[in-house]
Amino acid sequence: MQEIKKYVELNKQRFLDELLELLRFPSVSADPKYKADVLNAAEFVAEKLKAAGADQVEVCQTAGYPVIYGEKLVDPSLPTILVYGHYDVQPADPLELWDTPPFEPAIRDGKIYARGAADDKGQFYMHVKAFELMMKTGTLGCNVKFMIEGEEEIGSVHLAEFVKSNVERLTADVVLISDTSMISMENPSIETGLRGMSYLEVEVTGPNRDLHSGVYGGAVANPITILCQMIASLHDENNHITIPEFYDKVIELGPEEKTALNKAPFDLEDYKKDLGIGEEWGEKGYTTLERTGTRPTMEVNGIWGGYIGEGAKTVLPSKANAKISFRLVPNQNSSEIAAIVQQHMQKLAPASVKVKVVNHHGGEPVVTPTDSPAYRAAEKAIEESFGKKPIPTRGGGSIPIVALFEDVLGIKSVLMGFGLDSDGLHSPNEKYDIYNYYKGIETLPLFHKYFAEFRK
Ligand code: BES
Ligand code: MN
Ligand code: MN
Repeated sequence: MQEIKKYVELNKQRFLDELLELLRFPSVSADPKYKADVLNAAEFVAEKLKAAGADQVEVCQTAGYPVIYGEKLVDPSLPTILVYGHYDVQPADPLELWDTPPFEPAIRDGKIYARGAADDKGQFYMHVKAFELMMKTGTLGCNVKFMIEGEEEIGSVHLAEFVKSNVERLTADVVLISDTSMISMENPSIETGLRGMSYLEVEVTGPNRDLHSGVYGGAVANPITILCQMIASLHDENNHITIPEFYDKVIELGPEEKTALNKAPFDLEDYKKDLGIGEEWGEKGYTTLERTGTRPTMEVNGIWGGYIGEGAKTVLPSKANAKISFRLVPNQNSSEIAAIVQQHMQKLAPASVKVKVVNHHGGEPVVTPTDSPAYRAAEKAIEESFGKKPIPTRGGGSIPIVALFEDVLGIKSVLMGFGLDSDGLHSPNEKYDIYNYYKGIETLPLFHKYFAEFRK
């Protein structure tokens, strides 16, 4: 541990400067305008992996953005860790809500403010630096493989193909991922579950053109009104989702699991105050932690139609659209859910409109084991570095690749995240605490050490 701390201390400034450089690439995968920047970020990652001592570093082409691969295979008798992360980021919009520009990282109060600071550049880069540290100090205890992708924020659409055609190359004993949150630095935790997702887009079409809302209004269905009615009917008075068969495969937690989950430190009053909400909301009969960690949900991510420019325009629009996502829990399946939602939306539509539903992307839910050598290694590493045993929690977010690694490669993951929910992932003023960054770099080598020990 002393040696690790010493190396971090000596290289602190460079570790920080390199991360800031990475954060300057606006690698927004969702927007084609940033294509060159995404590709430049990929090259940067490959270069840094090489510089840290990785072999076989390759910018692997896919039908979308490339996957960066690199490895250090020291001894076939040692266990192998596959590190996964993503160098792409969410769009920074709305720009006017940022205190400093999203791709000009700024440090305030010991925190780095930039899009991708916590999700996931600041987090996966800790692994690159921890790897450098182990290489330079001759302490690498496991074989290591890196797989850093560039399409996570758009659903990892081409990753299944990549994993399926690289099974041999990606073979490992565990997948190690830092792309989740901890409760707090005082209450370290490890997420042991992720929700799945079905993402759909709905288009409601009424008349074949925009109409004068006085001449036709009252006699022709307004697609915005119809779409709003359809969406509103998806929850009942208990905020339970009304789509038939939606809950059929959901696994309910047992009483013991519920008790354990609700033991995590959580203060509802602080939560409400932090978010500026008067009251929490959700499915009746479940606590906030249960609602986000163990229950499926439906969210409208965007809705548009009609006139939204300056001033007023009287129009009865031809179309209305919404982007809707469902978070899924074990044992729901994203394709099955997409199909029943499609069917249900068609059924909801009155004859006065036509409805088109397009399926965007999906991902399956996962629960990761808490009794494996890898989990125990993560637990011990965090306990040693934080001075407190981490508690297992269930995360509400999604990382579609985790279920895919299980299905295709048969490998389980450990979600060793060092971010906080309050880091503003996907929000304006996203940040990552420099303290967390260094703490992660110090903790990860301990995972390698204990994983090698526990796997013997
Ligand atoms: N890192 C997040 C997922 C996450 C965040 C998990 C916090 C647990 C805690 C990831 O980059 C992400 O945002 N995933 C998307 C899913 C994807 C299919 C667009 C999500 O969860 O919305
Ligand atoms: Mn992420
Ligand atoms: Mn994200």
